[in-house]
Amino acid sequence: MIDKSSIENILAKVIYPGFTKDIVTFGFVKEIAVEDGALLVHLDIPSTAAEIESQLREEITKRLSVLGASKIDLTIDKPRIPRETSSHGKNLLPKIQNFVMVSSGKGGVGKSTTTVNIAIALAQQGKRVGLLDADIYGPNIPRMMGIEGQQPVFLGKTIKPILAHHLKVMSIGSLIERGASLIWKGAMVTQAIEQMLEDIEWGSLDVLLFDMPPGTGDAQLALAQSLPVTAGVCVTTPQKVALDDTIRSMDMFTQLHIPIAGLVENMSGFICPETGKEYDIFGKGTTQPLADAYDTVVLGDIPIEPAIREGGDSGLPITVIAPSCETSKRYQAIASTLWDTLQKVNEEGGVDNEAIQPTIF
Ligand SMILES: Nc1ncnc2c1ncn2[C@@H]1O[C@H](COP(=O)(O)OP(=O)(O)OP(=O)(O)O)[C@@H](O)[C@H]1O
Ligand SMILES: [Mg+2]
Repeated sequence: MIDKSSIENILAKVIYPGFTKDIVTFGFVKEIAVEDGALLVHLDIPSTAAEIESQLREEITKRLSVLGASKIDLTIDKPRIPRETSSHGKNLLPKIQNFVMVSSGKGGVGKSTTTVNIAIALAQQGKRVGLLDADIYGPNIPRMMGIEGQQPVFLGKTIKPILAHHLKVMSIGSLIERGASLIWKGAMVTQAIEQMLEDIEWGSLDVLLFDMPPGTGDAQLALAQSLPVTAGVCVTTPQKVALDDTIRSMDMFTQLHIPIAGLVENMSGFICPETGKEYDIFGKGTTQPLADAYDTVVLGDIPIEPAIREGGDSGLPITVIAPSCETSKRYQAIASTLWDTLQKVNEEGGVDNEAIQPTIF
């Protein structure tokens, strides 16, 4: 007699392709049943990619075969993906025109710094911009935007975003006690993100940028299931060792059907504050082949510059205090290219990532 828990234990060993967690933890297993010796398993996955389905089918069938059932009836539901809804058919925020997910495979590459400065640059270009710190585990946006310790205003059940440097900002860091998030588990992350999306009074926006936690985990998936993410931006550093992580991040966008707006090569060379001369420290230009492989672009290179870190620490980002310096101009250029890509995605109804296969790695 096969019981449901032994089936679930086996399914909990099946890692969702491209991610580090299994299909049970992600909540993709909707139904398990045993009828007349036959196993019935029903999955609901967020990807439309045929190869994800076939990989899952093969692995699940192989693993479940050890139970010796007379038949394995595996149903895998995949989303239809019109761009106006997410890969799961949802749009929790219909008054917002564009959603941009800023991700990186590795931590500490400058995601938050890049997101903040691109967001400010977009606002300086006249766009109505929101910035959501979705880094549940290490929210840095309040400090970088100079709103640390500021409490958001609650209007009944809804929360008003905090205004800073002409952006509407919200961070889970402003809503929870320091350190409390470190113990959060997968389902709680998903719930927290959905709740933040539903309860925050963003109003109408041209674009909402999401600063993500590093890697390819629950937060990214939760977002892709709740909103039609218009485009993804991947932040990387030029060291060769960062490339593998970056590939994982790009693959995640592909699997979640998020059009890739491009890569930002951060900490690319060093501009000496005294002389203005540029030095090559971690390397430079290593990101371009990766962009080519994914049929996307390098949106821009940002050098290592003390003023960038100081801006982040002081809550006065470089694009605010020195809008006409070379680095701020680079952020401005990245923001313009990103905006153009968003328009293109909206006009064309999305980029078909499925056709893109990295050819050089
Ligand atoms: N181009 C740069 N020049 C100088 N310092 C930088 C630059 N980019 C980022 N930094 C600094 O590096 C540190 C890490 O940056 P940041 O917090 O933006 O990275 P992150 O990828 O968001 O990290 P995490 O993965 O922890 O969220 C910060 O102190 C930031 O000020
Ligand atoms: Mg960060």
